[in-house]
Amino acid sequence: MTRSDDFVAPGVLYAIVCGSSVARDVGTLVDLAQRDGWDVCVIATPDGNKFIDPAALRQQTGHPVRISFKNPGDDDVLPPPDAIIVAPATVNTVNKWAAGIADTLALGLLVEGLGLHLPIVAVPYTNSAMAAHPALRESMVRLASWGVDVLFGPQVVPLHPPGTGDLHRDRFPWRLALDRLNRLCVQDAPVDPDPSSGRGRTSDPGRPRGRDLTSEVDGSVGRDLAAEPDPA
Ligand SMILES: Cc1cc2nc3c(=O)[nH]c(=O)nc-3n(C[C@H](O)[C@H](O)[C@H](O)COP(=O)(O)O)c2cc1C
Repeated sequence: MTRSDDFVAPGVLYAIVCGSSVARDVGTLVDLAQRDGWDVCVIATPDGNKFIDPAALRQQTGHPVRISFKNPGDDDVLPPPDAIIVAPATVNTVNKWAAGIADTLALGLLVEGLGLHLPIVAVPYTNSAMAAHPALRESMVRLASWGVDVLFGPQVVPLHPPGTGDLHRDRFPWRLALDRLNRLCVQDAPVDPDPSSGRGRTSDPGRPRGRDLTSEVDGSVGRDLAAEPDPA
């Protein structure tokens, strides 16, 4: 899929990576998103940081990779986000996010991002054994019911046996995640009241961006999850 003609990248995309081998390839997402006009910042969990090359990503994005909360009084080193993709999202982070836990910077941004109604796409990635834990599905259902676009299931990325995640990195759906986010932004962006401005659709960070998942997603787990009863 390519971008809609209506698409105007609203600005800053936070690419959040967790502790999975797939995190090594977040530069692929950065490249794709930059081509779509996004200013990309990478945030890693402490375990995600073990898999990435922060210096290379800093050079690629023009922003430092952030791992931990800043100290009181320190300036923000990143511009505020207009949208978030969390991919790969570990079982650990998905479950903690759904529970409202914010004990890493990545989780703090995700918890806050939900409250700010930012467009958020999550791509949980794990092995078949970890995916079988019932808490994961419950967490994904809850997040989807709150407006997160959760991409999960065999159509998105097949589960792999434990210990083989590194072998399947090339299957990871970076392009799909970005396409979904771009589409959320087309849907969310208000139309500029002044057609002569040339801006078309504009970003308005002050506007709540509620999303109707059931009408927007085109299959895969986003729809399946949203159709299930909210376990909360
Ligand atoms: C080599 C390696 C690969 C891992 N891959 C995954 C993975 O793909 N998905 C997952 O849910 N956990 C994976 N884990 C386990 C997580 O790193 C672990 O649960 C960690 O606590 C996640 O922390 P985070 O959610 O803050 O990143 C992996 C661990 C290692 C050592």
